[in-house]
Amino acid sequence: MQINEPWWRHAVCYQIYVRSFADSDGDGVGDMAGIAQRLPYLADLGVDAVWITPFYTSPQLDHGYDVADYRDVDPLFGTLEDFDSMLARAHELGIKVIVDVVPNHTSFEHAWFKSALAAGPGSPERERYVFRDGRGRDGSQPPNNWKSVFGGAAWTRVEDGQWYLHMFDSSQPDLNWWNPEVGDEFESILRFWLDRGVDGFRIDVAHGLIKKQDLADLARYEGLVMWDQPEVHDVYRRWHKILAEYDGDRMAVAEAWTDSPEATARYIRADELQQAFNFHWLTAPWSAAEFRKVLSSTLEAVGLVDGTPTWVLSNHDVVRHPTRYGGGATGLARARAAALTMMALPGSVYVYQGEELGLEQVDVAPEFRQDPEYRRGGKVGRDGCRVPIPWSGDAPPFGFGPGTAQPWLPQPAEWSELAVERQLKDPESMLAFYRELLTQRRTLTAGIGDEVRLLASAPGTLAFSRGDGLVCMVNCGSRAAKVPTEAGELLMSSGEPLVEARGARRLAPDTAAWFRPA
Ligand code: GLC
Ligand code: MG
Repeated sequence: MQINEPWWRHAVCYQIYVRSFADSDGDGVGDMAGIAQRLPYLADLGVDAVWITPFYTSPQLDHGYDVADYRDVDPLFGTLEDFDSMLARAHELGIKVIVDVVPNHTSFEHAWFKSALAAGPGSPERERYVFRDGRGRDGSQPPNNWKSVFGGAAWTRVEDGQWYLHMFDSSQPDLNWWNPEVGDEFESILRFWLDRGVDGFRIDVAHGLIKKQDLADLARYEGLVMWDQPEVHDVYRRWHKILAEYDGDRMAVAEAWTDSPEATARYIRADELQQAFNFHWLTAPWSAAEFRKVLSSTLEAVGLVDGTPTWVLSNHDVVRHPTRYGGGATGLARARAAALTMMALPGSVYVYQGEELGLEQVDVAPEFRQDPEYRRGGKVGRDGCRVPIPWSGDAPPFGFGPGTAQPWLPQPAEWSELAVERQLKDPESMLAFYRELLTQRRTLTAGIGDEVRLLASAPGTLAFSRGDGLVCMVNCGSRAAKVPTEAGELLMSSGEPLVEARGARRLAPDTAAWFRPA
């Protein structure tokens, strides 16, 4: 961190998927007390902050992204007091805490939705959601042709014949953000958690709040056209002011899936949010040309709004990146290289739990799958990146919880090799690499400046300098490639050290390295 900058600007933030991080009470589901117990592990790993996925009262039909009460902790995860002690413990260890806020939709068990159903068509209670009459002679057709992200129609019919909109599961009715009452309620929810001392928010489906107001049929179905409407930014201008009223550089990071880095950067204009996830980096395939494209377009877009970039490779919604990069030894080598590359960049980095252990996507057997995306759409779903973390021991539950109670998703037997306890003893492990990487990042990037300059480099590679202190190169090609002349002493490598061949220093394929500038 540079002097006088807000804590989040260069923070490494670790995403905790609450169900799958650590279980304190042996019910097979992670919880608040489990997080509190494992915080020292995160402090040793060297993270600056954690983002905790939703732990609010919820029927858990989308594992907490279906909130029934925004101001309480689900008994599955503990109590508000457990949250407070976890937060206090994190702060003692110097770790900031970001909580998830889910403003696009509630659960169908939320008091508002229940009263909307009871109050009937035309009532102010229904105006908090998006209720419409159906089409067709008897109104038996949905009001428009929108589809749910999880598959099937985005509308469900209720007993009195009206339909309600749900861009996700039918248990997640969308709120009507054109109604000022909704904005006021979320201001109060933000204040509730800010008053408790949270350092920031991750905003679920941040681009989705405001739908195209006419709810017209979509001519072409390109997922985003009914979302990312200009008016959504007014919501974040208001949230900016709320955050600014509190001390300690409180912040928010948007989960905004957009069509371009420019559209993403609109969420971080000076009077809006502090950060938005850079999903363009996450979706890039293993290719130097693609990384280069995302890198320059991100920095340009973020530069135009004077914002801070973010970098992320995995989260609870996507296939884990070692698997995306080809799996096996190759996937893991590339994952190390991608991490080293991303950690050289200015801005903040998000690490998804288990990526520091080199976990791969798990092929969860159909009978265990729980994701609504699987239930509704028949897609494999996201359970494979949500399998509980292996902490210790040789057999499931690998210390995830006390005793032998099995976790809510089965863990692969091979994970005995990957348990935290085992990796801590192995200097070659992914965990050892991440610990070293976070330490080096802290020291080597401190005060070097944020300017990124792309360097000419061999085909299949990407090289850049960061400020006046670092040169980074990643080799996505299939042959060892010459290190650029700007690179001096080797500081750290994600794999093999350099080789000397034909009179030049060369970096092996699927490897990245940091150098002092020549
Ligand atoms: C976000 C969450 C995802 C959830 C969805 C609906 O994309 O990251 O897990 O299913 O929103 O809330
Ligand atoms: Mg538990």
